[in-house]
Amino acid sequence: MRPISNSFIPNFEKDDISLILKLLFRPRLWQKGKFIEILEKTFTRKFSFKYSFAFNSGRSALLAILKAIELKENQEVFLQSFTCNAAVNPILALKGKPVFVDLDQNLNLSPDDLRKKIELSKKPKAIIVQHTFGWPSQIEKIKKIAQEKKLFLIEDCAHSLGAKYQNQYLGKFGDISFFSFGRDKVISSVYGGIAATDSDRLARKISSFQKKLLWPNNFWTCQNLCQPIIFSISLPLYNSFNLGKILLYLARKLKLIAPAVYQVEKKGKLAKVFPKKMPNALAILALHQLKKLEKFNQHRKKIAEIYLKELKGKRGIKIVFQERENNYQPIFMRFPILVKKRREILKELKKRNIYLEDGWSETPIVPKGSNLKKFFYQENSCPKAEKIVKEIINLPTNIKVSEKEAKKIGEMIIKFSSLD
Ligand SMILES: Cc1ncc(COP(=O)(O)O)c(C=O)c1O
Repeated sequence: MRPISNSFIPNFEKDDISLILKLLFRPRLWQKGKFIEILEKTFTRKFSFKYSFAFNSGRSALLAILKAIELKENQEVFLQSFTCNAAVNPILALKGKPVFVDLDQNLNLSPDDLRKKIELSKKPKAIIVQHTFGWPSQIEKIKKIAQEKKLFLIEDCAHSLGAKYQNQYLGKFGDISFFSFGRDKVISSVYGGIAATDSDRLARKISSFQKKLLWPNNFWTCQNLCQPIIFSISLPLYNSFNLGKILLYLARKLKLIAPAVYQVEKKGKLAKVFPKKMPNALAILALHQLKKLEKFNQHRKKIAEIYLKELKGKRGIKIVFQERENNYQPIFMRFPILVKKRREILKELKKRNIYLEDGWSETPIVPKGSNLKKFFYQENSCPKAEKIVKEIINLPTNIKVSEKEAKKIGEMIIKFSSLD
């Protein structure tokens, strides 16, 4: 049986792999090319923005945004805890100060804690509002606070491409927003991201920043083209005498694939490859995946319904996303649950070839190993986030998980959470 996971090339299907194989043999298409602009135009049209700018990652797009709003030394940027270090490093790169805000009941930024922390702030500049795992944040309340305090509102839509609030795409509520096409995101080009806005002024600044950037070198682009190929060869062999695991280990050691987070990034520094322009080859991949966005997100909703049906009301299991207000149109990039026996459940699932450790747990700035001090994170400053990271399991909703498998995962979770 092939492994089930949140992280093993969850969005790449046969057609993506054959596209990548063709691209691998055409290095002339890797760096510059017309598809970068085509991606930007397609994105702009599809999500009704006035402007979109492609970069080699969401973190590069965020850096461009922070430059555009002219973030200065010691100015404070408010963002939620339970976020990725990739969303914090661009603030540190400009010598800004991240201030972490605790969570609401949906793993999103709490407007009440935000207000409290802004009141204590000396140099507030901007709020970054993340829509965790594709569930819309309390954007109206947060927007009101941003307007009252005259702060820039940046939407972190790394998890929420295609999700809506009141029939409007997320990303359209703030001054400016960014999206990620990272390996385990809503759609994927292994690495890639977009900054999007309706503001002429911010767009002018982002555009001039983007023009000055270099492209990543061809080795990096090649690593990212190779990543889905190497995974698609390794995964069917994952447990045949550990052959797949060995292949992946070697590919990482030999640097045939790039990591999702570089080691320096866990210490509060940007890796050298950020910020850079979007490579043409990855733009081709992103465009191809964008065509499948509705299919992917429909599937995610269907799988989430199955988990909800299986797990609702079961002892020892708390479902995080369960409100059913009509104005919320989430996309469930994951289906998080809270359990008491997290480690034991993950261990049992692993024995059955289900790998749900996706990095989004154990620490309020993910992934594990991120040095909290380097990110100015003060222990106990976000008690809710610090508690949930010890209890969370993120169930997979990606296109590789069938309805039957989702039902089975639900049954297993119930079984293992009631074991003594
Ligand atoms: C919430 C969040 N914001 C921002 C990012 C940065 O996106 P990227 O990986 O494309 O740089 C990520 C992912 O790493 C993320 O999970």
